[in-house]
Amino acid sequence: MVCLGNICRSPLAEGILKAKVDPVKVYVDSAGTAAYHLGKGPDERSVKVAKEHGIDISLQRARQFKVSDFKTFDYIFVMDQANFDNVVSLASTEKEKKKVSFILNEITPELNSEVPDPYYGGEDGFKNVYDMLDIACDSINKKLSI
Ligand code: 4NP
Repeated sequence: MVCLGNICRSPLAEGILKAKVDPVKVYVDSAGTAAYHLGKGPDERSVKVAKEHGIDISLQRARQFKVSDFKTFDYIFVMDQANFDNVVSLASTEKEKKKVSFILNEITPELNSEVPDPYYGGEDGFKNVYDMLDIACDSINKKLSI
């Protein structure tokens, strides 16, 4: 799960998907393309909305996406076009590029819709992001369970 800062959207996506999958079979992690918030916990508004749904993301710590993530992960879900461009620019093979997709394409294939960055807005933005990611993660979980 990749966003810009790894403090708002991707920590939610990580927490939501982790709550759905079998942890023995599926390893989920998140990262940011930027290094602004390295080592910090998620934004308190993300922590709050996750907690309202029974998910604790407070122990996550921000890290930056790294080239070796292409080897570690089978799927790399990005939140928006800038994340997509940044991650794809680090890929060195077609196989690596193909691992990268917009997470909302799990709901609306091929539209490349973006999960809006809620950082500068209010709590409603975080609720909206949570709901979008919850539906997308249901779809990812179904795909992984087949
Ligand atoms: P995120 O949100 O990419 O969903 O973690 C942001 C967090 C921080 C900043 C921008 C977006 N920032 O500019 O510091």
